[in-house]
Amino acid sequence: MMGMEYSWKFLKSVCIFSLLLGSCSAYDQSLVDAREDAEKHSVTLHVDASNATGRPIPETLFGIFFEEINHAGAGGLWAELVSNRGFEAGGQNIPSNIWPWSVIGDESSIYVVTDRSSCFERNKISLRMEVLCHSNACPSQGVGVYNPGYWGMVAFISHILSNANYAFSSINGEMRFQNIESGKKYKVALYMRSTGDIDVSVSFTSSDGLLTLASEKIIALASDVSNWTKKELLLEANGTDHGARLQLTTTKKGSVWFDQVSAMPVDTYKGHGFRNDLLKMMVDLKPRFIRFPGGCFVEGVWLRNAFRWKETVGAWEERPGHFGDVWDYWTDDGLGHFEFFQLAEDIGAAPIWVVNNGISHNEQVETASVMPFVQEALEGIEFARGDSNSTWGSVRAAMGHPEPFELKYVAVGNEDCNFKNYRGNYLKFYNAIKNAYPDIKIISNCDGSSQPLDHPADYYDYHIYTLAMDLFSMSHKFDNASRNGPKAFVSEYAVNKTDANSGSLLAALGEAGFLLGLEKNSDIVRMASYAPLFVNTNNRRWIPDAIVFNASHLYGTPSYWVQHFFTESSGATLLNSTLNGITSHLEASAISFQTNGSDYIQIKAVNFGNKSVSLKVSVTGLDTKLSGSKKTVLTSASVMDENSFSNPDMIVPQESWLEKPEELDLTVVLPPYSFSSFDLSKESANMKTLISDSYPKID
Ligand code: AHR
Repeated sequence: MMGMEYSWKFLKSVCIFSLLLGSCSAYDQSLVDAREDAEKHSVTLHVDASNATGRPIPETLFGIFFEEINHAGAGGLWAELVSNRGFEAGGQNIPSNIWPWSVIGDESSIYVVTDRSSCFERNKISLRMEVLCHSNACPSQGVGVYNPGYWGMVAFISHILSNANYAFSSINGEMRFQNIESGKKYKVALYMRSTGDIDVSVSFTSSDGLLTLASEKIIALASDVSNWTKKELLLEANGTDHGARLQLTTTKKGSVWFDQVSAMPVDTYKGHGFRNDLLKMMVDLKPRFIRFPGGCFVEGVWLRNAFRWKETVGAWEERPGHFGDVWDYWTDDGLGHFEFFQLAEDIGAAPIWVVNNGISHNEQVETASVMPFVQEALEGIEFARGDSNSTWGSVRAAMGHPEPFELKYVAVGNEDCNFKNYRGNYLKFYNAIKNAYPDIKIISNCDGSSQPLDHPADYYDYHIYTLAMDLFSMSHKFDNASRNGPKAFVSEYAVNKTDANSGSLLAALGEAGFLLGLEKNSDIVRMASYAPLFVNTNNRRWIPDAIVFNASHLYGTPSYWVQHFFTESSGATLLNSTLNGITSHLEASAISFQTNGSDYIQIKAVNFGNKSVSLKVSVTGLDTKLSGSKKTVLTSASVMDENSFSNPDMIVPQESWLEKPEELDLTVVLPPYSFSSFDLSKESANMKTLISDSYPKID
């Protein structure tokens, strides 16, 4: 089951190799074997294509779950290049650790301390630089401090966690974050003050500081910087370095204080601070909703480290940042409550806000004491939806978004159903939110798929992480779920552990089967999202993930590409379809959808077995002819294959056109361990552009 010994791609390579040797007989024989294989395993999918018998699929069915995990946001989608920009990561007490900042210069020329003299009330720590040398007595490049972004410290050691999903980064001195590219512009903003005149260079350099990629000077008289002063500079890079650092250096003796040092690329998605390449990967999934900001991130191991939305809004300089203790890293909270709503709006996805309900991994607030948490949630909703004169709506408006955001879904907690106080706390939230915002749909953490909930809810949250065969079989999980009561929100699903490693084809195929089942059960399953979405390979806290990246590169795992097969599903029509034959390793579905003014029938089929299968698709109920068929296949030579930075496209959907597209009875081969879709155009007669098919045809 687990090891796919050959595939057509492999056989083609064998053929090419054999051709070089003057023979292709091995390939020929294999084609014959495979054709016989497929003939032995033939199944039929009967599709009733009349929309009259079909059922609408919810507009919201497929979306994404964005959690601040694996540096998905800080050091990921949020394009800020400086880590610990306000020097708060070491805590509010002094002296404090300034990591990952480092000092340039030795003890005879500079020393650096933290003090509590910042002009920002909620983050009092600032950095004081005492420059002891002057002019030519200083090293030629000056003395000062540098920030490597999110990595660069050799001494960082990951905590060992017990869950098999928790992963550990390999940390070494070469991993730097700042990705500086030639010709690109970067906006640096910082706060400073000094007792004397200043002459400070702000530079992007190579990781060893020897090569300058961009540099500007801040020169000012003492009288101009005796109080905290904001300085903004535009740096244009004259070289590319994926491992750059930001330096603040001088050769002028004296005391200089720095605080809130930020460096952002000018070019971010819609100018809203999101890293373009990562955002595009998200948008390509056509997500209809976005659940945020977690996950366990919302809960915290301890409540004091949970995500608290109020600490993440307002001017970026005034945000204290916080240590997310579940995923074990600091975030400056540049990606805050406002930015999540902005993100949802920018990608056209409905926001689903997960609120902390007074429960962390290790604590639970008594229901009698939970009202402050309820109040905080109500105010967070007002921040999103209140008019610009309301208390919290005015904060949003001041941040540049006077129009309310369209918040219609709130999830009360994350995976907290088994806590003793969950139901009591949940009801306080439910009643208060429904009272103030009757149209908001509330999502409970308790699973209503096998028995009715004992409390009111619009949706119940369902999470599943399991092995591939198990998830594949769970395509029928919701067949018998109650059709009365709350709808299901499968907000986290993935194949994990040994079946997945860091993102195998096998995992993706298990998920494909499960998703086909969700699509068929979308009268009760109204929303579904994979988890986690992102991982920065410099600090993997959870594997597998859908989108893998570092400072400069990224790729989708097969699980990411499986989601591409469902981009037309939300809002489409589910057609009646029945599979006949030996179907134990097969799942299939049929939908009809419209795009760019054309009508399509889409057949999707996953072959979870190690033998080719001949799939005959018999379409009835059509009043037009089919005029073109696009085939898309996801497979690989070995079922445990994974994409990687060195081979990012090894397992990506391959498109081709089918012969005889006009026939209503279509027979296709599903390769072993593969996911295929067939888009049958009901209209455009010009679509028939035959290209050589990667797989043998069964006539
Ligand atoms: O997706 C990773 C984690 O898995 C989420 O934070 C949590 O909800 C689940 O346990």
